[in-house]
Amino acid sequence: MAQDNVQIAPASGKLGVLIPGLGAVSTTFIAGVEAIKRGLAQPIGSLTQLSTIRLGKRTDNRSPLIKDFVPLADLNDLVFGGWDIFEDTAYESALNAGVLEKELLEKLKEPLSAIKPMKAVFDQEYVKRINGPNVKQAKNNLEKAKMLMEDIERFRKENNCSRLVMVWCGSTEVFHHPAPCHQTIEAFEKGLESNDPEIAPSQIYAYAAIMSGVPYANGAPNLSADIPALLELAKQRNVPVCGKDFKTGQTFMKTLIAPGLKARMLGVAGWYSTNILGNRDGEVLDDPGSFKSKEETKLSVLDTIFQPNLYPSLYKDLHHVVRINYYKPRGDQKEGWDNIDIFGWLGYPMQIKVNFLCRDSILAAPIVLDLALFMDLAQRTGMRGIQEWLSFYFKAPMTAAGLYPEHDIFIQLMKLKNTLRWMRGEDLITHLGLEYYD
Ligand SMILES: NC(=O)c1ccc[n+]([C@@H]2O[C@H](COP(=O)([O-])OP(=O)(O)OC[C@H]3O[C@@H](n4cnc5c(N)ncnc54)[C@H](O)[C@@H]3O)[C@@H](O)[C@H]2O)c1
Repeated sequence: MAQDNVQIAPASGKLGVLIPGLGAVSTTFIAGVEAIKRGLAQPIGSLTQLSTIRLGKRTDNRSPLIKDFVPLADLNDLVFGGWDIFEDTAYESALNAGVLEKELLEKLKEPLSAIKPMKAVFDQEYVKRINGPNVKQAKNNLEKAKMLMEDIERFRKENNCSRLVMVWCGSTEVFHHPAPCHQTIEAFEKGLESNDPEIAPSQIYAYAAIMSGVPYANGAPNLSADIPALLELAKQRNVPVCGKDFKTGQTFMKTLIAPGLKARMLGVAGWYSTNILGNRDGEVLDDPGSFKSKEETKLSVLDTIFQPNLYPSLYKDLHHVVRINYYKPRGDQKEGWDNIDIFGWLGYPMQIKVNFLCRDSILAAPIVLDLALFMDLAQRTGMRGIQEWLSFYFKAPMTAAGLYPEHDIFIQLMKLKNTLRWMRGEDLITHLGLEYYD
């Protein structure tokens, strides 16, 4: 149904992208944008920069670029800032991460060296394997949240930003369940004041962002903003939020393959996934608590795609295992193996092996860019709370209470593009045949 009353404020002025965690992913993202701005590289992997969107009937031949169809911030209007527990500038951190070649980083030394991390809010109980000197000291977490809000306002002013977004690219925090202090805004604020150990640093950043009217996207599997208190706060303050955990290597592959198997009503007896990676993220995930957060988001994907309750004969007994092994020599060049035991006609077994030699941060960087631009667009469109249309980018998409997340990447893409069509008053496109994915 076409909509014609959606008002979108223009993308005028500078958009500040604030990032907790100046590590491999965020520096690959920032360096990439700077390289693209200088004509040194192409924005491969980014929908906002490269993808078109079909409008109207197929015979209409209307397929503009997304960036020409909706008013997105221009790459030349992006400015970057961030926080980290280490004092390294974005240039030093990018060198240390070893994702991008030194030759390219030398050409970007000036803008990257200018990005110096602000002091972080950190608690080693939540990230056991690392510790650093660049952290805020205060008598309680409410004070630290206020200090983050001051950082945000200072950044806004100093960089003359008309709008800001925040994307969490910090380390994966240990797994924890929602606790009483996460239930209401009041309980959360009391918990900040009393240093309740159930409040993780990423939740303090999320709180500071939302209080400052800054959209918040969570690239890690931590609960972060996915708690009733912060969701309510986001609604009250008209702030968009989304998460969790960028969908990059192995899970990206899973959400490509699994919908296909299901579409053909092929059974799956088991799916064994293992990885080796050797960057700082791998080191953090070597801790069982942080791994548990990651395992939860990685495991959740198959159940919602296969719907074993609807198709018990095909998927009820699926044995799904996910392993991550820290192996230093690999650095950011992760290698993932999947062994998929499937069965077909009359129950005859078959196997699929996937060996994905990926580069984690190269896959994650365009996701950070798209999220920053789309979250800013969402805010200018007056959208608030969970942005389910951005599920496309996440391993464990946040959803409204009581709804199951959509993991099928093709349904997610359709949702994303239909939301853009809705924003511009174009007819939604549903494509016949989607009943196969219901
Ligand atoms: N690379 C991928 O493909 C991918 C995919 C999905 C999710 N992620 C998640 O994105 C995050 C970043 O990944 P990465 O490879 O860049 O990791 P990284 O270890 O290189 O960078 C994370 C940075 O966050 C900093 N940090 C930790 N706690 C912080 C805090 N409280 N405040 C500020 N800074 C803090 C660390 O010092 C580090 O520099 C991780 O949580 C990772 O699990 C990455």
